Amino acid sequence: MTPQLVVRAVPPFSLAGDAAGLMQDSEGLLDGAELHRARAMEPAAGHRFLASRLAQRRFAADLLGVAETSLDACYSCPQCGAGADLSHGRPGYSYRGTRLPLALSLSRAAGWTLLAAVPDAGPDVRLGVDIEDPAHTGFSGFAVLALTTAEHRDIRSVQPEGRLAAQAKLWARKEAWLKMTGEGLRTAPSSLDVRGLPGLRDLTPAETGLPAQLAAAVALSVTPGRIQAAPERGISLPEAAAEAPHTATGAATLRCRWRWHGPRP
Ligand SMILES: CC(C)(COP(=O)(O)OP(=O)(O)OC[C@H]1O[C@@H](n2cnc3c(N)ncnc32)[C@H](O)[C@@H]1OP(=O)(O)O)[C@@H](O)C(=O)NCCC(=O)NCCS
Repeated sequence: MTPQLVVRAVPPFSLAGDAAGLMQDSEGLLDGAELHRARAMEPAAGHRFLASRLAQRRFAADLLGVAETSLDACYSCPQCGAGADLSHGRPGYSYRGTRLPLALSLSRAAGWTLLAAVPDAGPDVRLGVDIEDPAHTGFSGFAVLALTTAEHRDIRSVQPEGRLAAQAKLWARKEAWLKMTGEGLRTAPSSLDVRGLPGLRDLTPAETGLPAQLAAAVALSVTPGRIQAAPERGISLPEAAAEAPHTATGAATLRCRWRWHGPRP
């Protein structure tokens, strides 16, 4: 079977919709640690969190072909470890005590959630996805906080009307990369130049189904020599994800096909 990258954009959860239904679904489907984390949030943030964790669980269940009730959330954090009581860090699921071979990543911005996965992922496949609202990059310390000297120089050459979008693009790439490595913002984003990293690329609205103003990026790590891209058609992922094309199968779903060369995981 050919591993593929799948992306799904989930529209904002509307409180006017069905908050009671959301709570009922959450209590029926999510794990104790997830519900506990939501309870510690202010209500609107808690609802967004629950809605996106439900969407992530359904996404994973769809891809794995199992019932969403049969999955257990299985998070890992480089600082805190892993376990059933952990509700933050790198997402994943287990089934009857066995961690499932599904590389997963999630990001939220402007109410939207972007989910990405590589089904049939070996343990060496790492994935990171991020979306960013340009309006959130307009604060005065952004360049110092977020950009390398060379990136800052590039941004200064962008016309003022395009600057926030360009900043959001770089920020989305940085967070996608740092989720892929698992480090998150423990690594200073200003120390990471994301203008040409292998396996990292922007995602277009046509690929994701996200609103055009949101920036989005994906980072995929593979051990060199284990996966090679098998061109089909369309846009490519750079280098490590090199020339891997995708087939857009719907407004909100992107599938990238990968061909395994070498031993199966
Ligand atoms: C990863 C990180 C950059 C994402 O932050 P963000 O832009 O605010 O949020 P996004 O909506 O884009 O992404 C959130 C998702 O990132 C993922 N994520 C969080 N930490 C991650 C890690 N170490 N590796 C991979 N993915 C991670 C989770 O799926 C999370 O979803 P959740 O809120 O449902 O748990 C940020 O959470 C971070 O730096 N985390 C590391 C530090 C940390 O978490 N410290 C506290 C615990 S020790």
